[in-house]
Amino acid sequence: MPDLDFDGHNTVRGTHGLHAFAAKCPPQVVAHALRYYSRPGDTVLDPMVGSGTTLVQARIMGRNALGYDFDPLACLVSRVKSHPLSDGPIENAYEDIARRARQDLDALRKRKTSEAVRRRALPPEFPNRDYWFDSRVSRALALLSFHIRSLDASEAVREFMWVALSSLVLARTSVANARDIVHSRHHHWTHKEAPDVITTFQNRVGRMRKQMEEFRRLCAEADPAKVEARLGDARSLRLPDESVDLVFTSPPYTTALDYPRAHFLAIPWLQEALGISLSAYLARGEEYIGSERGRLGPKFAIDSSLLDMCLATNVLTRIGATSARQANLTQRYLLDMRKAIRVMTRVLRSGRHAVLVVCPSHVRSMNIPTHDLLVELATREGLLLKKRHLRTISARRRVMPYMRSFGRRMSTEYVLVLQKSTRR
Ligand SMILES: C[S@@+](CC[C@H](N)C(=O)[O-])C[C@H]1O[C@@H](n2cnc3c(N)ncnc32)[C@H](O)[C@@H]1O
Repeated sequence: MPDLDFDGHNTVRGTHGLHAFAAKCPPQVVAHALRYYSRPGDTVLDPMVGSGTTLVQARIMGRNALGYDFDPLACLVSRVKSHPLSDGPIENAYEDIARRARQDLDALRKRKTSEAVRRRALPPEFPNRDYWFDSRVSRALALLSFHIRSLDASEAVREFMWVALSSLVLARTSVANARDIVHSRHHHWTHKEAPDVITTFQNRVGRMRKQMEEFRRLCAEADPAKVEARLGDARSLRLPDESVDLVFTSPPYTTALDYPRAHFLAIPWLQEALGISLSAYLARGEEYIGSERGRLGPKFAIDSSLLDMCLATNVLTRIGATSARQANLTQRYLLDMRKAIRVMTRVLRSGRHAVLVVCPSHVRSMNIPTHDLLVELATREGLLLKKRHLRTISARRRVMPYMRSFGRRMSTEYVLVLQKSTRR
């Protein structure tokens, strides 16, 4: 069995490290799956693509790839990371944005300014804005956002700048009054001095340019491939049957990570780019697979369509004995994952593989063997388990949710290799 731990390996080559994202998959795991279960020119699907690791790696290895995510910020980040962009236009654009934003700030400071500048420096309204952002930070973010919007450049360059802006907020050291912001629950933390947002933006773009340069170089070594990131729901993708040569995905966990909550501090500044308001974005929260939100009723009963699945029934009964809500949430997760697996199976060509990277989870101190549950679901849908690798997640490298009531991070995960049977 190959070693899939990759501890000590560089997991941020090229654009892989362009933007922080919770529970990112190590590119080496994707590379392993691409190498063993696809050929150059094949089409790879990641139906829950997150920050686009699959797309970036597929592009580097000359595979066509299609990624979907329910989260518009994830889609934006995936698209920017997986499309090689030349440096000249980025350089012109970011200097322009920084210069204009600085000019506006100077004018505001000297109180010699027009109504138009005052208006563009007004930050968007959202709950607790002044708790999470110093007013000077808000003003600088509003100006950057305005000048990115009014940039005279291609859409690809503008999107690159949106990702840079988002990464000022969603970062270990954020310009927001928050720490550990890549996790779903932020810790409030006030900077000793308000950060210089425009300089941070310039430094950030400087780093991203180097990452993009390396990505361009890596892509040049492979045959050109078509890569696309789309907004979509893994439970109902409109893709033709048998049109995909490999599925690779690391699905969400049961109620462990709340992506909308993890991202909510960046969304207000990118509402136009994402085409969604903060309130609409948060309102979709309960529809994410694995969400712990939503009304589920006070009682729990096993869904009749799961009754012939021994493991699922057993696990749900155990959880239901202590919490109807948790049992309902876990059941909703399983029913959602069954829909997603059904789609994966439908679009996969016969005899080809689906590789799922899955962490066991914990609900109310109970071990939930999510990996085995997904195998049970997949088997019903016509995918057979071929290999099961266990890998250790380096706590230093990957942002994983804390295990409830255990206080430590998830530390192992399974790489499940499933094959679509040829007799369907
Ligand atoms: C564990 S992350 C994937 C991380 C990704 N492999 C990476 O390396 O960045 C799971 C993703 O599933 C997405 N997701 C949740 N529900 C979804 C749905 N119904 N359809 C598509 N994506 C969904 C989340 O938004 C999140 O980005």
